[in-house]
Amino acid sequence: MNGPMTRQTFLGYAPEVRERLDGDARQIVSRYPEPRSALMPLLHLVQSEDGYVSPAGIAFCADTLGLSRANVSAVATFYSQYKRRPNGTYTVGICTNTLCAVMGGDAIFERVSERLGIHHDETTEDGSITLEQIECNAACDYAPVMMINWEFFDNQTPESALAVVDAILAGDAVAPTRGADKVPTFREMERVLAGFEDGHVDEGGAGGAATMAGLTLSRENGWTAPAIDASHIDMDDEPVSSEEAIEEAGTEPVAETQSSAEREETTPADSDPDTVKAPDEEDES
Ligand code: FES
Repeated sequence: MNGPMTRQTFLGYAPEVRERLDGDARQIVSRYPEPRSALMPLLHLVQSEDGYVSPAGIAFCADTLGLSRANVSAVATFYSQYKRRPNGTYTVGICTNTLCAVMGGDAIFERVSERLGIHHDETTEDGSITLEQIECNAACDYAPVMMINWEFFDNQTPESALAVVDAILAGDAVAPTRGADKVPTFREMERVLAGFEDGHVDEGGAGGAATMAGLTLSRENGWTAPAIDASHIDMDDEPVSSEEAIEEAGTEPVAETQSSAEREETTPADSDPDTVKAPDEEDES
């Protein structure tokens, strides 16, 4: 493989790194019917290597999957789990969504932010912590929740959160309140998210008491969900086609192709931006 494009594509990865990443990528891609479906785990693989979605990583994903770099960047910039700047060794995410906020999440974020001297999406100077205000992590039964590299720290207070943050700053390993025995580094966790097990999957057991409270209560009281009344469902009914469903709903499909990117060019303006007039250039007639 020669030529300037090839050199540019692989810029940033030494040959042995590239060879290792290629091997990992082959495993990831083989899990999907379409190579492009492997983009998200591949971006995690890049983060496990570089600590963020680097330009070399974008080129690697594009090259591996036959996509444009713009396609890869579009996905990488859509999801907040993909970092466009080098991430800290630990992402400390504090949930300030509704339930956690009312249970004290806002106060925890404020105190941790003060302690670290950084705000949302910023990283400490020593590179140890990136602080984030995060959305609901479906752990509301343990609110307020802090996540460190996506491991749960339940039922936090400003004091308990600060103790964990101080331990990280001191270089100590920290353990989540459930799940794995210790929090992995950002890069280690990214490799797990790319689809490579780290051997800690069985640590920590399943749902805790708060999560299971409804089920426990219903079992103690013999409560069950009401039976489904299926008497009005005719199992011999033919399935409704999408055209029939649209007609029944009284709506019109927009077009065969739903995206402007897929549409055939139909007017000069589709291909030549100079033909599009600014509002003040419109014909008087
Ligand atoms: S609101 Fe914080 S985990 Fe749901």
